[in-house]
Amino acid sequence: MPEPILQIENVSKIYGARRTLFGRTAEVQALNNVSISVQKGESFGLVGESGSGKTTLTRSILHLETPTAGRILFEGQDLALLSSAELRRLRARVQIVFQDPYASLNPRMSVRDIVTEPMLVHNDILNLSRVQRTDRAAELLSLVGLGPQHLSRFPHEFSGGQRQRICIARALASGPELLLLDEPTSALDVSVQAQVLNLLCDLQDRLGLTYFFISHDLAVVRYLCDRVALIYRGELVEEGETDEIFDAPKSDYAKMLIGAMPEVKVRGNAA
Ligand SMILES: Nc1ncnc2c1ncn2[C@@H]1O[C@H](COP(=O)(O)OP(=O)(O)O)[C@@H](O)[C@H]1O
Ligand SMILES: [Mg+2]
Repeated sequence: MPEPILQIENVSKIYGARRTLFGRTAEVQALNNVSISVQKGESFGLVGESGSGKTTLTRSILHLETPTAGRILFEGQDLALLSSAELRRLRARVQIVFQDPYASLNPRMSVRDIVTEPMLVHNDILNLSRVQRTDRAAELLSLVGLGPQHLSRFPHEFSGGQRQRICIARALASGPELLLLDEPTSALDVSVQAQVLNLLCDLQDRLGLTYFFISHDLAVVRYLCDRVALIYRGELVEEGETDEIFDAPKSDYAKMLIGAMPEVKVRGNAA
């Protein structure tokens, strides 16, 4: 029986009306009664167009947003009930890779500093000396297909794909079990996307990671994910095994999305 690592239970999020330069904005219901359960070691895909609530859900999992209703459990523990010390420990175990590797690396920090920073933040758990942190950074770089010679370099010296590899190394630095991947390849050139996706597959096998993979790209999700949920305007429309959803979509929304795919490739050949 697979164990859930992440349970999202009836989560709703309403952003309140705000005052802006142009007057008041209306309330936005970003999520409406969303329930998802992610099993340990699987790759779970969340698909939806822009504005459907994907980032809101991701931020809620990181406890950066508080749901208006419902709850989120990590290994059975309700995030809302954790003490700040417990929440800090949780942050080491749940890490995120963002869409834009250009915006998410500090240009003034060397790769060594970027990759060792999470180790410093979580050093109460990791207990590594400075030398050990640098050694671990070098190991992580080789794990993502870079090398120790890159430790002293700066982000501007790297291509987009290499920068995303650095972001992945940083995300792995605290030894997480769950990686949230918010459109990790959509800012990259198509030729580089497949390489980064292959790297993610490889890392998952080697490290036994669980992925919560967010995308609007169905081909990518089909390639990488065991199960998929479709979200539309904050509501879950369909959820199931990837092959089932692609072969026999039930909802009109799923049929429309899959019907619009340029070419449905056989899983495993997409890269
Ligand atoms: N901080 C915020 N305040 C008000 N509305 C927001 C905020 N963040 C997101 N929204 C709105 O919530 C909805 C879902 O946004 P988001 O979660 O970013 O979707 P996605 O990541 O799928 O593009 C959108 O209508 C968006 O405009
Ligand atoms: Mg988003």
